[in-house]
Amino acid sequence: MFRKCFSAAILLLSFNTIMAQTQNDFLVKPYLQIGYETKNNQLEILWHTIDSNSKWELTFTVNNKWVNANEISYQKVNVNSVVPFQVYHAVISSLVSGQIFKYNVIRDGNIVFQSEGQAPKSNNQPYSFIAIGDIGAEKPDQKKLALLAYQKKPDFIAVPGDIVYDDGLISEYAKKFWPIYNADIADSNGAPLMRTFPFIAAVGNHDVDNTDLDKHPDALAYYYFWAQPLNGPKISDFSKAYPTFKSNEINKDAFLKAAGQAYPVMNHFSYDYGNSHWLVIDADNYVDWTNKELLDWVKQDLQSASSATWRFVMFHQPGFNSSREHYEQQQMRLLAPIFETGKVDVVFTGHVHNYQRSFPLTFVPDRKGTLLVGGKDNNTLRGRVVNGKWTLDKSFDGIINKSPNGVIYLVTGAGGADLYNPEQTNDPDSWQKFTFKFFSTAHSLSYIQVNGNSFKLQQITTEGKVVDTFEIVK
Ligand SMILES: [Fe+2]
Repeated sequence: MFRKCFSAAILLLSFNTIMAQTQNDFLVKPYLQIGYETKNNQLEILWHTIDSNSKWELTFTVNNKWVNANEISYQKVNVNSVVPFQVYHAVISSLVSGQIFKYNVIRDGNIVFQSEGQAPKSNNQPYSFIAIGDIGAEKPDQKKLALLAYQKKPDFIAVPGDIVYDDGLISEYAKKFWPIYNADIADSNGAPLMRTFPFIAAVGNHDVDNTDLDKHPDALAYYYFWAQPLNGPKISDFSKAYPTFKSNEINKDAFLKAAGQAYPVMNHFSYDYGNSHWLVIDADNYVDWTNKELLDWVKQDLQSASSATWRFVMFHQPGFNSSREHYEQQQMRLLAPIFETGKVDVVFTGHVHNYQRSFPLTFVPDRKGTLLVGGKDNNTLRGRVVNGKWTLDKSFDGIINKSPNGVIYLVTGAGGADLYNPEQTNDPDSWQKFTFKFFSTAHSLSYIQVNGNSFKLQQITTEGKVVDTFEIVK
């Protein structure tokens, strides 16, 4: 009898403890984002919780003085197959460029989370960043690169798509993304990256191609979890630029309510960091890169950034790729002339799980504005070959000659998912003529340092080996 009562008491105690922890705990601890707006000296801090009754506040330091976040808002995510939860957004502004700040997240008057971050750099401050794509695969090498990225102390991390595998689900983020990139400690399982440095991401096919919400009601988590500028193109036919649905009305409504203003415009955006301008676009198969309004938006965006020292473009599917895998997905070659006119310096892509660097190049598609049919999927733009003529600057080596004549296209998709075509690494005969470097025998990240007119890249493996390096000087 006594044993029974004792066991029941223990059970009740455990239940209460679990309930208390669940009420107190974050589903996802706070993390930094560049935010929906594109204002200088501003960031957003997001966190997820199932607790809908508490009062949340956020304080942060500016010049060592504690101030309150301007505004805290939340979005409810109430979709089938997951417990409903809130994503909180705190906007912190009036930051001092480049200054380290502390922040506290406060629940019902008690500090429940503390961390540090850094304000975005100004036009005349040097900065560094990591570019790394195809990451959330829950692989040991992904974790090693997370730790390496953390040790580099970059100002931000740029992800050219395929944030989480296989279907961009809330449940996949929970397993393959947050524990690795927003870990409490830095070790072989991950690092406290996201709470310290903002991540900026382009969407990849694994993030937004799954629009069958009847099959996966918790798909399209990109729109719930990321806060990136909402300055994407507002064109007359949205289906030419953004994903549309196959799901029933109930699941679609639940998604739309939770995604709020982020869907659909957050698929394309631009922003400025330090002395650089970034154009981040969606290269997935539903986007029609022959659409004039869309192309005009890209042209105008790059034109508006003519005073920036550096112009970087980031998207997922590379136009210039020597891997046998995904070779036929060349639709983004169509934008090469616009990038050249817009004086783009470097294009960052992923999708292909290895590292590749092109010669600086210019490209003229065979038939301007049309796609030649090829590949396996003729109903979409994906899998279409874009033939044309390229001109390569073979005098640029990035060591002695640091002045490229043309755009340098990078594939940096060796961030965690299984590598593609390692057998091509030491077989230059298998590379396309535009490829200068191909490396696929280890996972790796791109570490970039920008200081005024200098851009230096190092491609670094999980073991810390530098397998490519070059510098551009203006
Ligand atoms: Fe991909």
